[in-house]
Amino acid sequence: MSDGNKITVFADGPFELSGDVKVKKQDGTPIATDETVYLCRCGASKNQPFCDGSHSAIDFEDPGVIAGGKLVGTAEAGALEVTTATHGPLLISGPVTLQTADGATCEGARAALCRCGASSTKPFCDGQHKDAGFCAE
Ligand code: FES
Repeated sequence: MSDGNKITVFADGPFELSGDVKVKKQDGTPIATDETVYLCRCGASKNQPFCDGSHSAIDFEDPGVIAGGKLVGTAEAGALEVTTATHGPLLISGPVTLQTADGATCEGARAALCRCGASSTKPFCDGQHKDAGFCAE
């Protein structure tokens, strides 16, 4: 059950998260609570973790389909919580349906989503943020 929470992966663009979305820093500081947020997955936004349109300026190219990795776990109900790992991925927790740009869907409750743009397993993190020198709280 996704409990109405959804992550949509846009080709060449951000993640759209919708439902009961709560975004916080790694230290627990709340960043946003909203029904819809757009989070950067190209790494270039100057307003991390949010998309600021920079993906167009850098010509970010990604088809928005699953190149590797997966959602794991299950959850019956609750909010879609996102923790921005320092210099790392978006850590997802909570029941959610993920829809890729080709319309495919999968359900789960936990994932590390790439926000540096360098993962070879987009939309999921493969640890490349370290080699890429990604820097964001
Ligand atoms: S995806 Fe839009 S600024 Fe990174």
